[in-house]
Amino acid sequence: MVQFDFSSETMQPNFDEFLDSPSVPKDVSFLQSDGLLHQPSSVLPAYEHLPESRTAMEELTPGEWNDLNLYRARYNQEQQARQALDMLAASKDSPSYGFRVNNYRHCLQCATMLYQDGADEETIVCGLFHDLGFIVCPDNHGEFSATLLANYISEKNHWMLRHHALFLDHHASGNLQLDANARESYRGHPYFEYTAEWVARYDQTAIQTQYETAPLEFFESMVYRVFTRPSKGVKIHY
Ligand SMILES: [Fe+2]
Ligand SMILES: [Fe+2]
Repeated sequence: MVQFDFSSETMQPNFDEFLDSPSVPKDVSFLQSDGLLHQPSSVLPAYEHLPESRTAMEELTPGEWNDLNLYRARYNQEQQARQALDMLAASKDSPSYGFRVNNYRHCLQCATMLYQDGADEETIVCGLFHDLGFIVCPDNHGEFSATLLANYISEKNHWMLRHHALFLDHHASGNLQLDANARESYRGHPYFEYTAEWVARYDQTAIQTQYETAPLEFFESMVYRVFTRPSKGVKIHY
């Protein structure tokens, strides 16, 4: 059996250093202003950021809140898709989780498979982002992607994203740390079969090095179109 070396030499540079550093730095000479005060916005140049005299949100007048609300509507339209894409792009060169493709490639491959099978644009975008949170919150990454897209996708795809990780366990029967039958508690749910098929065809299989995978740019316009749909106004409270 192959023995893996999990000593600190195999970790990223600075890994031990970060863990050993003091939790609250004593030297704060690095602190600086963000420089946005009294600046025109890059998103909406007619909008000027709040004056420096405002140091707490409760100080804002109804007029300022109105301006902010108008600004945010435009900001969301322009920036949600862009920043979601940037979050995914940031993981392009990240180490793999142990498969031969990293999480970034897994997401692209999943989306490509959906595209090749003629899936609708929304479902392709769900594939692209289904594991966006996998590295930073692995135990709840289904909720992460479901929440990210909640206001722009169908109830069916939202349910699928929320539950896809648990359904994926069915395909990891060799992993004795998981319950391969965990999905059975949802048997009979209207979206059970859809989720089971989605995971079987596009998630568990998207770990291939030889699969012709489309680049992120290929999906950009789809992502913009989904994120600029009228919001469903869903607010998720746990
Ligand atoms: Fe996942
Ligand atoms: Fe996945």
